Amino acid sequence: MFQRLNNLKPYKTETTPCKIKLSSNEDPFELPLWLRDKISKAIKNLPFQRYPDPHSTKLKEVLANFYNVKPENLVLGNGSDELIHLLITIAGDYNKPVMYPVPTFPMYQVSADIVGRKKVEFPLDENFQLKKEKIDEALNKNPVIAFFASPNNPTGNSFDRDLILYTADSGVFTVVDEAYIHFSEKKDFVEEALKRDNLVILRTVSKIGLASIRLGALIAKEEIAYEIDKARLPFNITYPTQIIGEIVLSEGLEEINKHIKIIKLEREKLIKKISEFKKIKVFPSDANFFLIKVPDGDLLHQKLIEKGILIRNMSHLPYMENCLRVSIGKPEENSAFFRALKQISQELDWI
Ligand SMILES: Cc1ncc(COP(=O)(O)O)c(C=O)c1O
Repeated sequence: MFQRLNNLKPYKTETTPCKIKLSSNEDPFELPLWLRDKISKAIKNLPFQRYPDPHSTKLKEVLANFYNVKPENLVLGNGSDELIHLLITIAGDYNKPVMYPVPTFPMYQVSADIVGRKKVEFPLDENFQLKKEKIDEALNKNPVIAFFASPNNPTGNSFDRDLILYTADSGVFTVVDEAYIHFSEKKDFVEEALKRDNLVILRTVSKIGLASIRLGALIAKEEIAYEIDKARLPFNITYPTQIIGEIVLSEGLEEINKHIKIIKLEREKLIKKISEFKKIKVFPSDANFFLIKVPDGDLLHQKLIEKGILIRNMSHLPYMENCLRVSIGKPEENSAFFRALKQISQELDWI
């Protein structure tokens, strides 16, 4: 009955309880009280017994404004995970594969496995950048849809823009997953998505303060968004999500932008300081996290947990030997992480 799922494992995330959680690429800052009060009042008055607006009309207006597109350019999902799954479910001929580079965000692979689609995984180079030869090899396998997370998770770097466009130009339906674009200085793909038939963008509010409400958006040309929206499950965006999204992404923008600014500054500070450690390699990042490679990933992970700090151990994934991903926290959390890392590194002679 469930043969396709035999080789799948339940989605696993780091849940070890720790005082300082730098493991899930969330916004570390709480929403301010005045914004929570507004949300509470609005939630209190919700007609809980009714289905929500199936088209999320008001929320789409707010998001369209935020992304500088039209509401008709949007398809909304219960997190961008749902949109990834939707795209993999509906894209093209089922005998043709889904392509994506590795290492990257695992949901492309998970969704492809769930629906039983073939996959073409191709490696990034030693700096985690796309390589044209590898893309050409993947394209030769006749994929129907390509995913590029840029900035990429878990590596943190943005991909070569021309190679993403090269993939789209080859005719493959191209998805640029911009979950971390708010932390990047690089140009986004909105302009391209609005003019091309085979390039769409994914965005999420999970990294900018609203991971709890599960809200993602796909940005595409009006006709493309219209087609994709036909496959969306009705009422996938709950009433509380619609209301909270509307309030925070209109009245809370100044607050969110403040968080983003601090996170970027903290990232650069931490990267610079850790770069001085002789046996730790730090990779540059355009995201709200960064990757480090150390002599013993499991050991560092465990020693940090003992000090109450949780980061994401990537050591066991392909191409990620002894790599760990550190999400940027509040300044005091980042300082605590740095102090702990320095102490452990001194003990282990990594400095
Ligand atoms: C590249 C990338 N895309 C999508 C997502 C999923 O985001 P959401 O919370 O909107 O489902 C993540 C979450 O970590 C991510 O790293």
